[in-house]
Amino acid sequence: MLHTPSDETIDRLESGLAALAEFRDPSRPGWTREVFSEPYRASREWTAKRMREAGLEVVVDNAGNIVGRLPGEDPSAPALVTGSHTDTVDGGGRFDGIVGVLGAIEAARELQQTGTRLGRDLLVVDFLGEESNAYGLSCLGSRAAARELAPEDLERTDYRGVRLGKAYADYGLDPSKLTEIPWARRRLHRFIELHIEQGPTLEKRGLPLGVVTAITGIERFIATFTGSADHAGTTSMEDRRDAMVAAAEAVLAVRSEGCGAPTHGVATSTRVESESRSPNVVPSLVRMYSEVRSVDEYWLSGVKGRLTGEILAKSAELGVDVGLDWSTDNHIVKADKGVQDVVASAADSLDIAWAPIPSGATHDAVHMASLAPMGMIFIPSKDGKSHCPEEWTDTADIEVGVGALVQTIKELDRL
Ligand code: GLV
Ligand code: MN
Ligand code: MN
Repeated sequence: MLHTPSDETIDRLESGLAALAEFRDPSRPGWTREVFSEPYRASREWTAKRMREAGLEVVVDNAGNIVGRLPGEDPSAPALVTGSHTDTVDGGGRFDGIVGVLGAIEAARELQQTGTRLGRDLLVVDFLGEESNAYGLSCLGSRAAARELAPEDLERTDYRGVRLGKAYADYGLDPSKLTEIPWARRRLHRFIELHIEQGPTLEKRGLPLGVVTAITGIERFIATFTGSADHAGTTSMEDRRDAMVAAAEAVLAVRSEGCGAPTHGVATSTRVESESRSPNVVPSLVRMYSEVRSVDEYWLSGVKGRLTGEILAKSAELGVDVGLDWSTDNHIVKADKGVQDVVASAADSLDIAWAPIPSGATHDAVHMASLAPMGMIFIPSKDGKSHCPEEWTDTADIEVGVGALVQTIKELDRL
């Protein structure tokens, strides 16, 4: 039986997307609403209000997550959790994460309007700062909920040298209490997140829904190349120790690593910064930022060794020293098979065609998976575009996702 949304649901989804899009940094392209920024702070009051209007009891926890509770028949039973995020990348779009928060609020509203009382509490969470930020760390709120935010993470600095711990304090959160989150210390039943696919697979296959099987692991590194500053007019090509050329070789090595992946694997360099300002000096100090992702455990586990070897060898040929600082943003996480089965059966019961699909993007679900069996529902992204202003998903597609989410919540509640 197809789920038929009411006109009010469609209006609320569309007006919600438009209202959140207004909270943006006008000096940046697209719909920029980065964690800790003023537009983000202002948007959170709007989101909390929308949760209250939908009949949820709202608290903001010590990590800055907004949590709306729909009480169930037995408040002592492990709670069912759903949600996503409303921050964006710099120059980002209007749907990534936002659909999962607005969709979860609509789901809670629909449960009440249809007189469906769940056996257990439903928690709708808008997690703080999911996108990787100036501190190079994603999923701040869900990491804190899962106690995966370590004290040393708070020592990370942005490009101005500001500590993450200070950014939290300036935002009004106590850095020493971030993981003191009562709702996350209860036993939790399941976690389910609705999200746009952010890639082209569903659209290309003409499918309205994806049942997520696994979420990519992410390995990142910052490379520092140290060569020698010399006169760009008088130093012969063979006598140079050019840090920029070593970085350029490393950018290509990162790309060929991604191109050589046997199944799913991608590799990206996002920034190369040179300390040399003058066009007539051979660059002597260059920093480069890269990441590699895959849902293929075997391939991803070898990437650090392979790339380190290649970059060191190429740099040595050029007489350039290199230091590589590797960090794991997150390991590959598989979605719980039982939750996948429930999403699939919910889709089948609503006559929604679906396919299993891995996620090349990371999500709050990665961290929630350490608190409860986790699953995700994907809906199509137009032209597969995301993390850019053109990001788009039709309201009709969002509505299908919300319908599947409601049905999934009902079926998960009964497990
Ligand atoms: C977030 O969208 C990420 O995949 O980095
Ligand atoms: Mn997202
Ligand atoms: Mn994103």
